Amino acid sequence: MEKKKQYIELLKEAEALVDSNTDSICTMANFSALIKQHFDHHWVGFYRVVNNELILGPFQGPVACTIIGYGKGVCGKAWEQKKTLVVDDVDAFPGHIACSPHSRSEIVVPCMKNDTVFAVLDIDSDQYASFDQQDKEYLEKLVAWI
Ligand code: SME
Repeated sequence: MEKKKQYIELLKEAEALVDSNTDSICTMANFSALIKQHFDHHWVGFYRVVNNELILGPFQGPVACTIIGYGKGVCGKAWEQKKTLVVDDVDAFPGHIACSPHSRSEIVVPCMKNDTVFAVLDIDSDQYASFDQQDKEYLEKLVAWI
């Protein structure tokens, strides 16, 4: 199925999930599962801002780094810049934190309330350049529901 159709389907399922629940960790857990089911990326998950650090939250995939500092790695940079970062080749991103040797490309989407980042959604692919503007657009819509 083409990417756009996958996302439309994913968003429909996600909307149904948030209707019945307001706990953000619970929503992050199901959103990770939903994305993994639809796209089977190498790693899908959230890091939550706790005491001014990013702490590993709900995820699907291999074990990952547990703590990421402000401005560190792709996740910390997306937090600092308050914007989605799309990385075609993680080895070309200065300061990229390699949790898995299989990661080739990555997208990190900040989750914000009142202009404050409270978490980031991180997706890693084992293929180069897996993510584009379409991923950015739909994933930003998705995290707005958390
Ligand atoms: N690569 C990320 C670290 C998190 S893992 O990919 C799950 C980064 O550079 O921030």
